[in-house]
Amino acid sequence: MLYIVVDGGKNVKTTIAKVGQFVEREVTIGAWIAGKRSSGKIAFLQLRDGTGFIQGVVVKAEVGEGIFQQAKNITQESSLYVSGVVRADDRAPSGYELTITKIEVIHEATDYPITPKEHGTEFLMDHRHLWLRSKRQHAVMKIRNEIIRATYQFFNENDFVKIDPPILTGSSPEGTSELFHTKYFDEDAYLSQSGQLYMEAAAMALGRVFSFGPTFRAEKSKTRRHLIEFWMIEPEMAFVEFDENLEIQEQYVSYIVQSVIKNCQLELKVLGRDISKLEQIKAPFPRITYDDALAFLHEKGFDDISWGDDFGAPHETAIAEHYDMPVFITHYPTSLKPFYMQPDPNREDVVLCADLIAPEGYGEIIGGSERIHNYEMLKENIESHNLSLDAYQWYLELRKYGSVPHSGFGLGLERTVAWISGVEHVRETIPFPRLLNRLYP
Ligand code: 4AD
Repeated sequence: MLYIVVDGGKNVKTTIAKVGQFVEREVTIGAWIAGKRSSGKIAFLQLRDGTGFIQGVVVKAEVGEGIFQQAKNITQESSLYVSGVVRADDRAPSGYELTITKIEVIHEATDYPITPKEHGTEFLMDHRHLWLRSKRQHAVMKIRNEIIRATYQFFNENDFVKIDPPILTGSSPEGTSELFHTKYFDEDAYLSQSGQLYMEAAAMALGRVFSFGPTFRAEKSKTRRHLIEFWMIEPEMAFVEFDENLEIQEQYVSYIVQSVIKNCQLELKVLGRDISKLEQIKAPFPRITYDDALAFLHEKGFDDISWGDDFGAPHETAIAEHYDMPVFITHYPTSLKPFYMQPDPNREDVVLCADLIAPEGYGEIIGGSERIHNYEMLKENIESHNLSLDAYQWYLELRKYGSVPHSGFGLGLERTVAWISGVEHVRETIPFPRLLNRLYP
């Protein structure tokens, strides 16, 4: 780690996250003013620098009138270099405070629109480029980052290779109704709604692969779980059948939850997350078949659903409420699922798939399945789904040369961040959400 000595060797330039290494020493930090309050003798500056938040204390009797007035007059979101002595303080959320000795204003902000008062959601969304600076949004982004970091670590430790499928595609794995259409010179193209088919090709080349990238769904859904552009992690594994696929999923989800608990204590606290609910998330997860889930819902008085219908948010929530853990719903009716899923060998009307439903009403975070590896069966399915054999020729060809059982899944990053952070709506879990009525900022 690089520290730059400033002021002729008297102090070091550091960050808020690292001040603990400099207790009772003088440091300089590049920061913004997140908030302030003051009396006639003392001013408290809430400082943020991207790595964290710390309170700076300016005592008039110690710094003199000039610096004290500078602190009193400084406006919210002004940028500055601030120097001061780091003090350990158990009462401070981060454990440290800064006794300020010097302030050097870099840029004075005027009329910052997001004030400490309450603002409506639309106002905050219109100012997303600034809203991201708030303590709460900072915490959510740090948790998102930790989940991404832990994802790479988990898959790297388990011999997966990161593969990047294309964003511009000619085919549509998850059905044709939700595609973003564009022109590709003279041809039609679509923004990727899943990299899965390419990941299957990659799994035949590299065994175990995972992708992490943006995904686009032109869904006209306006719910707290739906984004138009979201990020998906899609692992795909050769020689892995249905049960092992679920085992890998529960290991992975447990791993990211435990990583967040370990590395994001402060952020979970800022968000007021009930950590005890997360601490119990450990593999194995409960499993229930679609048939049993339906019977359970009927018992609970849901008479709006019958065999062959998909579960909606209230159904998923009712099932999830029954467990303290994420729950797999397995073996959905074939008619509800895409063309590539392997039928149950014991029952033709259901497929070897599972959705993982998060606890506390956060809904489905993973969709996955064993894939059809028989050439003829896959070809028939492509035809019966009225898909173009030409467009899927390359995909079908994977079943011609050493085809093997294989499985995979897709985890939606934003829904997972929402659940682990305990935030109500996915719009707060991605830096710049794309929603039904929102393309700006
Ligand atoms: O269930 P889905 O559609 O599965 C697939 O796309 C598979 N091809 C994945 C695979 O097997 N490789 O989507 C997977 C996950 C969902 O469980 C959900 O978490 C998330 O992606 N997701 C969305 N997240 C936010 N907004 C949306 N509109 C989403 N649609 C799906």
